[in-house]
Amino acid sequence: MGSFHHRIRCMLAFFTILLARTSAAIIDLQWDVASDDTRGPSLAAQPVITINGKFPGPLINATTNDIVRVNVFNNLDEPMLFTWNGIQQRLNSWQDGVSGTNCAIKPGTNWTYVFVVKDQIGTFTYFPSINYQKLAGGFGPIRVNNRIVINVPFPKPEAEFDLLIGDWSFNNYKDVRSGLGASIDVPDMMLMNGKSPYGYSKSKPYESFTVTKGKTYRFRLSNVGTIFSFNFRIGKHKMVVVETEGSYTKQITLDSIDVHVGQSYSVLVTADQDDADYYIVATPKLFNTTDDSPLVAKGVLHYTNSGSPVGGSLPPGPDPWDINFSVNQARSIRWNLTAGAARPNPQGTFNVSNVTLSETIILHGSEAIINRVYRNVVNNVSYINPVTPLKLADYYVNGTGVFQVGHLPIDSVKPFAVYGVSVVGGAHKEWHEIVFQNELTRMDSWHLDGYGFYVVGFGDGEWSPKSRDSYNLYDPVVRSTVQVYPGGWTTVYVFLDNPGMWNLRSQLLKKWYLGQELYVKVHDDDPNPAKENPPPENLLLCGIFGEIKAPSGAPEPQPG
Ligand SMILES: *[C@@H]1O[C@H](CO)[C@@H](O)[C@H](O)[C@H]1NC(C)=O
Ligand SMILES: *[C@@H]1O[C@H](CO)[C@@H](O)[C@H](O)[C@H]1NC(C)=O
Ligand SMILES: *[C@@H]1O[C@H](CO)[C@@H](O)[C@H](O)[C@H]1NC(C)=O
Ligand SMILES: *[C@@H]1O[C@H](CO)[C@@H](O)[C@H](O)[C@H]1NC(C)=O
Ligand SMILES: *[C@@H]1O[C@H](CO)[C@@H](O)[C@H](O)[C@H]1NC(C)=O
Ligand SMILES: *[C@@H]1O[C@H](CO)[C@@H](O)[C@H](O)[C@H]1NC(C)=O
Ligand SMILES: *[C@@H]1O[C@H](CO)[C@@H](O)[C@H](O)[C@H]1NC(C)=O
Ligand SMILES: *[C@@H]1O[C@H](CO)[C@@H](O)[C@H](O)[C@H]1NC(C)=O
Ligand SMILES: *[C@@H]1O[C@H](CO)[C@@H](O)[C@H](O)[C@H]1NC(C)=O
Repeated sequence: MGSFHHRIRCMLAFFTILLARTSAAIIDLQWDVASDDTRGPSLAAQPVITINGKFPGPLINATTNDIVRVNVFNNLDEPMLFTWNGIQQRLNSWQDGVSGTNCAIKPGTNWTYVFVVKDQIGTFTYFPSINYQKLAGGFGPIRVNNRIVINVPFPKPEAEFDLLIGDWSFNNYKDVRSGLGASIDVPDMMLMNGKSPYGYSKSKPYESFTVTKGKTYRFRLSNVGTIFSFNFRIGKHKMVVVETEGSYTKQITLDSIDVHVGQSYSVLVTADQDDADYYIVATPKLFNTTDDSPLVAKGVLHYTNSGSPVGGSLPPGPDPWDINFSVNQARSIRWNLTAGAARPNPQGTFNVSNVTLSETIILHGSEAIINRVYRNVVNNVSYINPVTPLKLADYYVNGTGVFQVGHLPIDSVKPFAVYGVSVVGGAHKEWHEIVFQNELTRMDSWHLDGYGFYVVGFGDGEWSPKSRDSYNLYDPVVRSTVQVYPGGWTTVYVFLDNPGMWNLRSQLLKKWYLGQELYVKVHDDDPNPAKENPPPENLLLCGIFGEIKAPSGAPEPQPG
């Protein structure tokens, strides 16, 4: 535990860093989070989580290095937290908003997140991270725009559209979370920006975008669902992939793109067809649907001079069971090494062609029965939330009584499934190789807070050291969420340059909630305050530290 003076020095250093960034704007947001029974896409009432009355929630429109302050008023009837998917929270896991980093915001109270979108650009989302609330909404788009001094590697589009697509259940999220088991809960609908498919009901709106012939538009596309990967396409139009989760990609032209749970892309679409209306669709992967199924999201691309409504059959896509199509497309998503992103130097300056790996971590995502309860497991350990956030325990008592680094086997599977508080360690600036192995028959996707993964390989069956021969170390794309195909593996490299306590999780909501997660504690034994921010002055305490608010300036725990 650092001394009082040490903390003051930390805070001074932090504020000096803030002040030095004179061009940064402060984005102040007030969010009223509530549950609304009238906003659902189905005809029956169900609770939907809204922000300032909106579903999906409002756009956070930031520019690299801006300071974002979000004062969240929790008007739900239970605790909540927001997490900022893909925002790296540099040196600042205090603001990450997951159960291992923050005490929940209690109902009827408010709490202000303050973070810098440091050295990032790109397309991201936010969503509620606890209590299965994501099933009921509460998600929204985040854009981090380039500073004007840095060139964007494509001409400025006519307009940008945020497009959040995801599967949706008509059930009350509280009923779903209390009834979770082995069976797959098939969703009821696929939504576009919270709206039901075109043609579903005259009394419910569908999503539509108006374009002018000859112009080019940027769609910021995200999968905010809970279980389904989807294939996205627009009738007769092609799309150029330009960005994913904060990386500019080599620009490739596609007829359709697969987007997995938790992922985001920017695609450019040029209105180069006849004046008319065209279907925009998203069909689930690894699932059979017919055109009129509510599980096919349907919106409209409307040309300003179009005279007739959309009609005819939906644009055809790949066979939803064709894994090869999807894997081949995934391998073709590459980093543009020469494009600058958040910083003036090109992305390729940080390439992985010659790095020294300190550790190989192999994580098997699977399922198990523990004490007669269905759970999801990583290496046969199912994460269980301690009442004290790991980050607080780490900072004040070096984890004592809450967690110990090293309980999770990092490259083998326990012979019996158990519950555990899984924390793996890593030293600042080490490179780790992480292999995600999917032991189940459905798609999975993994996400690490605080970082971008260098996605070096996808393969079938069990990974072995020989699998390294197939890696792409030349121009792997960097992103924060990566898919893992059924019965297959995905390998990423991670450069541990961001000390803190970081959540590594399945983005599939049920798997996450039932234990397919762990934390990575990235530590540096040098207490140089430039390396990690001190706790914020509004730090909430809970668990072994009680529920007394920390005194301003010098937070101290209140044991007991
Ligand atoms: C987002 O911010 C950028 C840069 O300040 C601005 O040009 C743009 O109009 C904003 N977009 C929206 C939708 O607010
Ligand atoms: C709660 O909101 C008020 C403004 O309405 C603000 O002054 C206060 O700092 C907020 N509390 C926290 C813990 O962020
Ligand atoms: C990569 O970025 C550069 C520089 O911005 C751009 O000129 C080039 O077209 C991009 N290459 C590809 C393949 O997208
Ligand atoms: C999906 O449809 C195909 C035929 O189009 C059929 O062969 C396959 O068995 C179906 N799969 C499932 C799981 O229903
Ligand atoms: C998928 O690709 C692999 C090798 O890349 C090939 O062996 C296999 O036959 C392909 N499967 C299908 C269904 O095309
Ligand atoms: C990647 O970095 C290595 C140095 O580690 C350098 O030799 C190589 O040219 C770089 N590759 C690219 C594509 O920039
Ligand atoms: C690659 O790494 C090796 C050993 O780690 C080192 O000797 C060599 O200089 C590196 N090459 C480049 C181009 O950085
Ligand atoms: C914190 O605990 C770890 C073991 O989990 C130990 O290696 C380390 O020395 C401890 N650090 C301090 C400052 O006590
Ligand atoms: C995981 O644990 C279960 C029992 O809990 C066991 O049946 C299974 O074999 C274990 N998995 C491995 C790979 O050892």
